[in-house]
Amino acid sequence: MSGAALVEAKALARHYEVRRGLLRGRATLKALDGVSFTLDPGKTLAVVGESGCGKTTLARQLTLIEPPTSGHLYIEGRDVASATKAEIRVLRRKIQIVFQDPFSSLNPRKKVGAIIEEPLVINSALSRAERAEWSRDMMAKVGLRPEHYDRYPHMFSGGQRQRIAIARALVLNPSLVVADEPVSALDVSIQAQALNLLMDLQDEFRLAYVFISHDLSVVRHIADEVMVMYLGRPVEQGPVEAIFGAARHPYTKALLASTPHVDPRQRTERVRLEGELPSPLDPPPGCAFNTRCPFATEECVRTRPELRPVDGRLVACHHAETIG
Ligand SMILES: Nc1ncnc2c1ncn2[C@@H]1O[C@H](COP(=O)(O)OP(=O)(O)OP(=O)(O)O)[C@@H](O)[C@H]1O
Ligand SMILES: [Mg+2]
Repeated sequence: MSGAALVEAKALARHYEVRRGLLRGRATLKALDGVSFTLDPGKTLAVVGESGCGKTTLARQLTLIEPPTSGHLYIEGRDVASATKAEIRVLRRKIQIVFQDPFSSLNPRKKVGAIIEEPLVINSALSRAERAEWSRDMMAKVGLRPEHYDRYPHMFSGGQRQRIAIARALVLNPSLVVADEPVSALDVSIQAQALNLLMDLQDEFRLAYVFISHDLSVVRHIADEVMVMYLGRPVEQGPVEAIFGAARHPYTKALLASTPHVDPRQRTERVRLEGELPSPLDPPPGCAFNTRCPFATEECVRTRPELRPVDGRLVACHHAETIG
């Protein structure tokens, strides 16, 4: 380990006060409830889990769009909570985001060149000609052609639009890119291309990624570390080899079993995801996964398992030893 991590999250939480309907008053929705990790430069943390588990909420914290309710976020060792406005502006440049939907995330009235250059207009002192040159370089690096510079987003396919979004994210030389389901809106046939592009760019620019996905199989080749989330909390996190080698949390196992491309040995001991995802307003007592878990015992209903080290990763499961 060298010096300060690029990103360190400590017990990061984001709660929302919401109305429960007309008569039942207000309630607290714990969209994110205690996430800790460190991420080094040039590395990828994959964040995985079903819809509503808090992935985009985490992305909003990491990109400084929204402050946490509690917990701390450190960027290059700097506590964001105590940073000045000027420091925040600098940090925001270092952290960029790529969204899931390349159709709604690009301004339809602007040409591709203008879209990619926009962050430079605001954040750099480059001349118009320098900006154009720099963004044309960036277009080439993401596999767009020079003549695309003067075209409009509607003239492009989903995969090409995502390349435009990636070029725009990289134009300020960020250290961290938060990619929120960057390939899940793309045809399966071009997902691999997009992932390969992201990996090439990571090597070239030594980018760190927080790569968000609901699909474990997608992250296998891109991730160094994996964090599996359920209802706002990490249930298993650790090195990609450990998690894919032998998952220790029944939820991770269930996610692996429902993805077609993973190790057949894991698929044979299938854990099927049965039952409904509980309401995040009313999570089950004890382990939040107990209502869907084939291994759940009385203890799982009574006490919430904390994350603890087991077999080279962290797991929040009372039965992690027997499940491996
Ligand atoms: N601004 C908000 N106010 C109230 N609740 C919110 C807000 N933003 C998110 N939530 C709730 O927080 C929970 C987590 O939402 P989030 O968007 O982070 O999930 P996600 O993992 O990104 O899901 P998906 O895979 O569908 O994108 C959900 O129950 C969601 O309804
Ligand atoms: Mg989301």
